[in-house]
Formats: sequence, C-alpha cells, structure tokens
Amino acid sequence: MPNLNSVPAARRYLETNLHQRQVNKVLHSFPSPRFWKDRERGPLDVRPPGTDAPSCELYVALPFCLVTQPSHCGYCLFPTEGYQNQDQLEVYLNALEREGEQYRERWQALEPRSIFIGGGTPNLLKVHQYPRLLNMIYGLLPSLPPGTPVTLEGIPQLFSRDKLLAMKDHGVTRISMGAQQLDAGLSRLSGRMQQPKHVFQAVEWAAELGLGCNVDLIYGWPQQTPAHMRRDLQDLMASGVQHITHYELNVGGATDFALNHRDELPSPELVREMYFGAAELLAQGGYAQLTPSDFQKVEPGAAPGFVYEECRRSFDAHDVWAWGYAAISDFPNHHHSQEAGGWTFMNQRNLPGYYGLLNDGKIPVECGYARSPADLRLSLLFRNLQSLSVDTASYRHNFERDVLEEFSPIWQACAELGLLHISPEAIRLTPEGAYRVPLIQTALMQGRVEEITEAHFAQLRAAAGRVDAGRGAAP
Ligand SMILES: C[S@@+](CC[C@H](N)C(=O)[O-])C[C@H]1O[C@@H](n2cnc3c(N)ncnc32)[C@H](O)[C@@H]1O
Ligand code: SF4
Repeated sequence: MPNLNSVPAARRYLETNLHQRQVNKVLHSFPSPRFWKDRERGPLDVRPPGTDAPSCELYVALPFCLVTQPSHCGYCLFPTEGYQNQDQLEVYLNALEREGEQYRERWQALEPRSIFIGGGTPNLLKVHQYPRLLNMIYGLLPSLPPGTPVTLEGIPQLFSRDKLLAMKDHGVTRISMGAQQLDAGLSRLSGRMQQPKHVFQAVEWAAELGLGCNVDLIYGWPQQTPAHMRRDLQDLMASGVQHITHYELNVGGATDFALNHRDELPSPELVREMYFGAAELLAQGGYAQLTPSDFQKVEPGAAPGFVYEECRRSFDAHDVWAWGYAAISDFPNHHHSQEAGGWTFMNQRNLPGYYGLLNDGKIPVECGYARSPADLRLSLLFRNLQSLSVDTASYRHNFERDVLEEFSPIWQACAELGLLHISPEAIRLTPEGAYRVPLIQTALMQGRVEEITEAHFAQLRAAAGRVDAGRGAAP
C-alpha cells in the first residue's frame, strides 16, 4: 500500500485512481467487518446499566428477499435470505421478539431520534404483521418521543395500499423504496420483477396517505446510458417524490454483475458524466443535494423531515442500537478524547446461527470490533465528508486535534486537484470532490488500514503458532 505522508505521494495516488471505477469501501462500516473479531463482548457489556446515552438511532432488520434469477438481484452486497413462505416471517418475528426482550430493561430510557426498519425487504410482511412488529418496537421503548420518524424499506411491487395504511396506522412516517431502474430491460438484468407502474403507484399512495417517500435509483448499471438515466430521473421527479437517493453501482463480491456483466458496465468517464448530469437535472427539478447521493425536494416553508444519518454536520457521536439478523450496532465512546473509541458489533449473518444463539438465551452477536480513537475519528470524518463539508471547530471540540494538520498531505493534494477548498473553519468539497468522496475516504484510511492489516495478520500468525506448538506437544 502506498505511503501517503507527503503531498506528491498523496497526489500521485489520487491521480492514478481518478481513472478507475470507484469502490465505496465504507458502505457498511469502518473498518471493514473482515477485521472484526469473534464474540468477545456484546452490546450489553459495552453499555452496562446506567451508561446508555438516551439519544440514539434504532435499526431493525428483516432479512428476507424475493428470490431472483440471478440471485441477490445480481448486484446486491448486503446479507439477505431467500423468502420461501409466510411461516419464515412468523418464526423470524418470534426470534426478534426474543432478542428484544434481552434489551427491555436497557431500553427503558432510550429516546431514539429515528427508527429505520430495513433489510432485506421489510415490506414482505403481510398487512396483519405490521401492528405486531411496530407494537413490539414501541413496547420496548416507553420513552420514545412522540413523532419520532419511522422509516420502512421495501420493493415497489410489495407496497400495496392496504399495507401502507397499516404502516401509517401504526406509526410509520416514511417509506424508502428501492426502484434501482425504471427501464424494464435494464431492470430485468437484475431478475427483479417490478414494473415502473408499481413505483409510481406507491409514490402516489404514500402522498395520499401523508407518508414521506424516498426512492433509490442506481446509476452506472450494465448497459445503462445517460439517456436511460435522464428518463428515469425525469419520470421520478414528475411523480413529485420528496426524496431521491441516487447511488453509484458498487460492483463487487461474487455477484452476477461482477462476474458476468463487467464488460457491459459504462466506462468510469461515462459514470462520472452520469453523476454530474443527474446532479444538474435534479437541481433544475428543485431537489437540493444533501450528500453525494441524497436529493431532497425543496418545499417552501416545509419543516425538516427525516434526520438523514449521512447528513451529519458535526462530530458528536451517538449510539446506534441495531436489532435483528446481520444488524450493525455502534457504540462510540463519548469520552473519546481520553479513552479508546468504543465498539461496533454485527449480529449473526446466518439465520440458523441467529436463531441458535437466541435459543441458548444469548445476544446473537457474530463479531465485534473495539475502535481505537483513530478509527473513531476516521469513521466520523467519513460521515461528515458525506455531508459535503467538515467543520474544523467541531472536530477540535470532540477530539482535541486539528483535522487540517492530522491529514494535511491528503487535504493539500485534494485541494491541488480541485476536490476541496480549505479554510480555517471548514473543508468544503467542490462538486468534483463530492463525486470523489469514496476515493478521498480511501486515501484518508490508507495508513490506518495498513496498521490494522498488519495487526490482523500478526494475530493470525500467533494463533497458527499456538496450534503448531499444541500439535508438537501432543503425544
Ligand atoms: C439493502 S437495499 C434494501 C432495499 C430493498 N430490498 C430493495 O431492494 O429495494 C438498500 C439499497 O441499497 C442499494 N444497493 C444495494 N446494492 C447496491 C450496490 N451494489 N451498489 C449500489 N447500491 C446498492 C439499493 O439502491 C437498495 O435500494
Ligand atoms: S437489492 Fe434489496 S431485494 Fe435485492 S437482494 Fe438486496 S436487499 Fe434484497
């Protein structure tokens, strides 16, 4: 890995990578879960009674998805399980309830500022299951502030009016719908069976019922042209939807797109052109850009709605409690200037494993990671970069350090390449810099990833040494 301790080295690194397809290395968490260790501790050890910060976010996971051909919609990198039948959902809700009971005492005083029910595909649930899930959540959170935003995620064809009504009647305030593509031919490459009419109908019903609505689209898709993208965005803006999330396709893992459609991907130059074309079109349509991928319709006089996790503009850390299969919790240390940076945990990504631990009365954690103060600074810096600027005073206040000094060669190199502007108050991304956030993040994390990788392999070598020594000692 290159050493980016000087401006020329950082500049060379950035320049070389400007021409590659972007890889979003912090999609889920920093550092990557591949460095996390087995279940040494769990959320309840890290937050002993009386130490909970009331303000937090709550994530609730539902793992199932309609089975597609190719599998996992051809591109998806999230852990999910194939949906087979209704019984699966009941078994899962029972398990979720058991996990929730383990937190009951702890959550008495929690005041989540938002609840996100994600997946997977939570709108696979039937009409009668929404009261059960939502009452289960509220039953564990007696201090939940009234009017807390509650978002439920799903796919277009499963948002029936009856379901939306049941969600609304039980406190859901907003839906988030993954459309990805509106063009039938492009959509078919992913094996998803939705039609554009499902997207527009759900947007209309959500508006009629007073539910907030976000639609996810992906650009940089195999065979996609700027013309496809423009048509999708124009049609979606014409629907009046409040929020559009426009993600660049992340190609990776053993997905069908990575293995079988690489040749059909638009070139890195064309993907960049798509990003800027979309940002311009959305601005013309009255959508304000909040992050590199979030666009919110500007409604004169409207109160701010959902608190977007990616739109942070400060370094105040708060807890994320995550509940269910593969859910990721985050407990940053609130006194991180003196102590270590807190913990993050992931629940089991294997459904029998998740059920098995719960049956044994255990918290269903698969692995966790104790962040160092440097890890915490980086993970919060990455979130702030998503919000398109970094407030230097907030960084200093929280970490007693100067962010401009700490990563000076990288900021300088980025500034020379026109990716950001530096002032004593803030680091502000230029439009090009906003598009290059994944690359800037990768440059910033380089030194720390090297240290973590070395420590990881040293541990593996030590463990292998212990096994060899054990074998040698055997009779
Ligand atoms: C975890 S998915 C769940 C939503 C729902 N199951 C669906 O498919 O619409 C949330 C969003 O992540 C985005 N996503 C998933 N895989 C992606 C990838 N490889 N690159 C970019 N975005 C991706 C999609 O836009 C998707 O709507
Ligand atoms: S994109 Fe959505 S529906 Fe498809 S596999 Fe991923 S989570 Fe499931």
